[in-house]
Amino acid sequence: MSYLIYGANGYTGELIAREASRRGHRPLLAGRDARAVAALAAELGLEHRSFALDDPRALEAGLAGAAAVLHCAGPFTATSRPMVEACLRRRAHYLDITGEIDVFEACAARDAEARDAGIMLLPGAGFDVVPSDCLAAHLERRLPTATHLTLALLPSGRLSRGTAATMVEHAHRGGLVRRGGVLTRVPPGWRTISVDFGRGARAAISIPWGDVATAFHSTGIPNIEVYVAAPAAARLSLRLSRFLTPLLRSRAVKSYLKRRIRRGPPGPGPEERARGRTIIWGEVRDDAGGRARSRLVGPEGYQFTVLTALATVEQVMAGRAPAGFQTPSRAYGPDFVLQVPGVERVDL
Ligand SMILES: NC(=O)c1ccc[n+]([C@@H]2O[C@H](COP(=O)([O-])OP(=O)(O)OC[C@H]3O[C@@H](n4cnc5c(N)ncnc54)[C@H](OP(=O)(O)O)[C@@H]3O)[C@@H](O)[C@H]2O)c1
Repeated sequence: MSYLIYGANGYTGELIAREASRRGHRPLLAGRDARAVAALAAELGLEHRSFALDDPRALEAGLAGAAAVLHCAGPFTATSRPMVEACLRRRAHYLDITGEIDVFEACAARDAEARDAGIMLLPGAGFDVVPSDCLAAHLERRLPTATHLTLALLPSGRLSRGTAATMVEHAHRGGLVRRGGVLTRVPPGWRTISVDFGRGARAAISIPWGDVATAFHSTGIPNIEVYVAAPAAARLSLRLSRFLTPLLRSRAVKSYLKRRIRRGPPGPGPEERARGRTIIWGEVRDDAGGRARSRLVGPEGYQFTVLTALATVEQVMAGRAPAGFQTPSRAYGPDFVLQVPGVERVDL
C-alpha cells in the first residue's frame, strides 16, 4: 500500500510530490488535470491517476491501493468533504493542508464515523496548523490551568496563488475568535496587539487562523485569539474591509479577484523558500495570574508545509495513525514539530 497525493499538480502539491520522491517515497499522484498530473508523474517516475471530486464512484475508485490520502487541492471548503467521504468508505486515512476553520470543525464532527472506520482524519498538516498547534499544546503543558491562549505569526515572503484564492473565498466572513469554548464572530482586524518576535515589538492584527478551531481540540483552552504581524497599511486595509462585506460576498467580485491572482506567479520561488523564516509566538494565561510564553522559529511557510505534511505522512505509513479526528499535537505530541529540520522552540 502507498499513499496518494491529490492536487499534485498545484503549487504546494507539486513541492510535496518532489520532496516525497527525493526521499524515496512512491506516492500515487492524482488530480483532476490529467495532463499536468501525468507530466509530473512521468518526470518523477511515479504512478498517476486523474479523477474529479464531484463523481463519488470515480473518486472512490481513484483511491484504490492508497492507505492514506494527502489532500492538497483547495480551497478545502469546496474539496474536503467528498474526499473525506471517499476515505471513510475506502478506509484510507485522510490528511490535508487546509487552514480553513470550517473544514477543521467539519472533520471534528465526523470523529465517531472515523473511529468506526478505523481511520484518522487529520486536517491541517501544513504550516497551518502543525507548528502553531504544537506550540499551543506545549504552552498548555507548561500551564495546564490556562484559560486564555494567544498566538501570533510572523510569516515570511509571498502567498501562493492557491492561498490567496482561498482567502478571497473567506474574505466576506470577517474575523473569528474562540470565547468560552465557542467560535465567535468578530469584525475583520478586530484587535491589534504588540508582540516581540525576538526582534523588538511589532504590531500584529487579529485573523481567523486555523488554531481558533484546532487549539481548542488540542488543549481545551476555551479562549483563543490568533494574530499576524502586518504593516500599518495592511492593518488598515483589513479593518476597512468590514465596510466592503457585501462586495466581498459577491461571486462576481470573487471571480474578478481570483482572475487577478491567477495572473501572478504560482508562489514563492526556490530562493525565497530556502531563505525565508517564520516565527510563531504564543502566550497562555490562567485566572490566577499564571502566564507562560514560548516562541518557535522555523522554515518559510511553504517549505514548512512540505516538511510537516511529509513528517505526518511518514508517521501514518509507519502505522501511527490514531483513529478519529486528530490535530497534529493530539496525534503526535507537542514536540512533533521539533523533528522538522530548522525548527527551534524557546521558552521565554
Ligand atoms: N495550511 C497551510 O499552511 C497551507 C500551505 C500551502 C497551501 N495551503 C492551501 O492549499 C491549497 C492549495 O494551495 P496551492 O498554493 O497549492 O494552490 P494552487 O497552486 O492553486 O493548486 C490548487 C490545486 O487544487 C486543485 N483544485 C482546486 N479546486 C479543485 C477542485 N474543485 N477539484 C479538484 N481539484 C481542485 C487544482 O487543480 P487544477 O490545476 O485542476 O485547478 C490544483 O491542483 C489552498 O487552499 C491553500 O490555501 C495551505
